Amino acid sequence: MILHRAIAIDGPAASGKSTLARLLSRRLNLIMVNSGAMYRAVTWKVLQLGVDPADRLAVVQALSKMEIGCGIDGFESTITIDGIDPGDELRSEEVNSNVSAVSAVPEVRECLVSLQRDYLKRGDVVMEGRDIGTVVFPETPYKIYMDADPQVRSARREETGEVDSVAARDKADSGRATAPLKIADGAAVLDTSGHTIETGVIAALEILKKQGFIMADEASAEA
Ligand code: DC
Repeated sequence: MILHRAIAIDGPAASGKSTLARLLSRRLNLIMVNSGAMYRAVTWKVLQLGVDPADRLAVVQALSKMEIGCGIDGFESTITIDGIDPGDELRSEEVNSNVSAVSAVPEVRECLVSLQRDYLKRGDVVMEGRDIGTVVFPETPYKIYMDADPQVRSARREETGEVDSVAARDKADSGRATAPLKIADGAAVLDTSGHTIETGVIAALEILKKQGFIMADEASAEA
């Protein structure tokens, strides 16, 4: 089995992870995996079934009946549950306010971490989430922990028109017993508060270079 390279990007809500991961995927020819979308999709289905997200046993029972489809469309990961792509509903207020509870369930994490690791069989990946550098790919040398001032993050979320209690999610995601959000060993911290998207990408590329990530153009220049 050929295993590929993984870039792990972790950080709190609205720290700029998805934007950075998307741009890196284009620039470096990687599959971008949005692991948060996987937790959101399971949460969406739990809510659809009328299951209480705080009832761990009921969530686990619902999970055991879900058929989770992880695909790739172009450069990006896709997710379906029982054949349905939840689309914009992944970012509904209801999902935003329940996803931390569902993602704190160890069995949910075990199931999704295994699916996340499977992406590495398909190519080089840049994966963003909360535990990518600590749990999903702890061995990868390419790790970035993104952060930004809480006010900057809340403002970014408000700009999208999304109703999302960023502070409450961060508290729950950092305080849970299983795979809490924290800076992984070996991760470089990138604070995006004072960065534009462009300067943030440049800073990330510099970090990855320092961590030994060989860019495709360098590899062909050396050959
Ligand atoms: O990245 P996001 O905001 O879309 O993630 C939604 C939620 O999913 C987040 O509040 C916690 C959970 N999550 C997680 O527990 N582990 C991950 N690797 C990614 C997301």
